[in-house]
Amino acid sequence: MPDTAPSADKPLSSADRTTPQLTSATAPPALRLMLALEDFEAPARRYIPRPIYGYVSGGVERNVTLNWNRSAFDDLALLPRMLVNVSQRSQKTELFGRSYDSPFGISPMGGTSLAAFDGDLALARAAAARNVPMILSGASLTALEKVRETSPRHTWFQAYLPGEEQAITELVERVAKAGYDTLVLTVDIPVGANRENNVRNGYNAPLRPSLRLALQCLARPRWLIGTALRTYFTHGMPHFENMGKRTPLVSRTAVRERANRDHLNWQHFALMRRLWKGKLVIKGILAKEDAVIAREQGADGIIVSNHGGRQLDSASSPLRVLPGIVEAAGGMTVMMDSGIRRGTDVLKALALGAKFVFVGRPMLYAAAVAGETGVRHAIRLLHDEIDRDMAMLGANTIAEISRGMLMDTRSPDIYGLR
Ligand SMILES: Cc1cc2nc3c(=O)[nH]c(=O)nc-3n(C[C@H](O)[C@H](O)[C@H](O)COP(=O)(O)O)c2cc1C
Repeated sequence: MPDTAPSADKPLSSADRTTPQLTSATAPPALRLMLALEDFEAPARRYIPRPIYGYVSGGVERNVTLNWNRSAFDDLALLPRMLVNVSQRSQKTELFGRSYDSPFGISPMGGTSLAAFDGDLALARAAAARNVPMILSGASLTALEKVRETSPRHTWFQAYLPGEEQAITELVERVAKAGYDTLVLTVDIPVGANRENNVRNGYNAPLRPSLRLALQCLARPRWLIGTALRTYFTHGMPHFENMGKRTPLVSRTAVRERANRDHLNWQHFALMRRLWKGKLVIKGILAKEDAVIAREQGADGIIVSNHGGRQLDSASSPLRVLPGIVEAAGGMTVMMDSGIRRGTDVLKALALGAKFVFVGRPMLYAAAVAGETGVRHAIRLLHDEIDRDMAMLGANTIAEISRGMLMDTRSPDIYGLR
C-alpha cells in the first residue's frame, strides 16, 4: 500500500465540512471502512499473533480501570450552543511553544515494532505529517536517535528509569545529545503490573521461543511475512534499545533491565530537572498532591494517566480526577490520556481543563493494519471528528471549550430530584 494518499491530505474546505462521510471517502481504498478509531481493532486482532494482540489490548487483573477509562467519558453529556457562526473554527493548539494542528498526540507505547513493521517510525512519520506530537517509548525497539532523525520536530522521548543516579544521568545526556526537546518520565510502574492476560496468552518481553509461540505466529501468516520476517531481514534481531543494556526481543534467557525502579523518588526527579534543559513532563500522575509537588519541583507539565488501565487495577480514571488536578496545578500544563477514542472524548477532557490529550492503542492498531498510512488516517479521523463536534457545540476555538458545555448524567440534580 502506498504511504501517501494525496486526496486525504488536502485541508478541509468549508463545503467539505458539511459531508459527514468525508474522512473515509478520501482515504486509500483499503481504509475506506475505517470510519472511527475503534474500527482498527478488529483487523489488527486478525493481523497480530494472539500473545502480541493480548499485550496491546490488555488491561490488568479485573480490568476495572480499563472499563472506567471509557465509562467516565460516557457519563458526561454535552450541552451544545446554537446559532453561532462556526465557519472560522480551528483546533490548532499551542503547546510548549509549538503550534500543533490538533489538541492530541500519540502516547508512548513499548514494543510497537512487534505489531507493525518499523512501528515507531510509522507512528513518528504519521505524527509529523499531521503536525501532532508522538512520544517515543523508552521500551521501544528502535534507537531513540533514529526516531528523532526521522521526525525531528514532532517526537518527544519517554523514559523508564531506575532510582539510580548514574543510569539517570547517562540517559538524560543521551536524549539531549540526540536533540530531543521534551522528555517525559513515566512514574506509574515502580513494579511490573499483574498482567494475567500476558501469562495466559504466553506473552513475555523478551519473547521466549517455544512451540506454542511458533504456532501462534504461523497462525498469522500476513504478520509473519509483513512484520516479523521483514523486520528480521531488514534489521536483524530487534533489541530493546533505550533502557539500560540492549536486550534482544527473542531470547531463551535474557532479561530486560527493570531493577530498582521501585527506588525512584522525587530526589531523582530533582536530579533530572537539574540535568535536563528542555521541557520535562511527568506521566502517570493521578493525585492532585503529586501535581503540586511536580509543579514545585519544576516540571513543565504532567500527563494525568493510568497507563491505559494497565498498571494498578481500580486506579481512578484520569477524567474523574482531572478538574481537581487542574485546579491544584496552578497554571502548569496538564495533559491526559487513557481511553480517548472519539472527538467528543477529546473535547470533554479539554472542557475539564486538560490542555492536550494523547491516544494509545488505536494508533498502534492503525499502524498494524496499514503502517504510516493507517496512522495518518487515524489521526485524520480524530481531527475531523473534533472539527465537526466543535461546529455542533458552537465553538470556533479550543479556548472556547469550557466546563459549561458538560453535564454529569449521574447527578440526580439534573432531574430536579434534590
Ligand atoms: C502496547 C502498549 C505499550 C505501552 N507502553 C508504554 C510505555 O512504554 N511507556 C509509557 O509511559 N506508557 C506506555 N503505555 C501506556 C500508554 O502510553 C498510554 O498511557 C495508554 O495506552 C493510553 O490509553 P489508551 O490506550 O486507552 O489510549 C503503553 C500502552 C500500550 C497499549
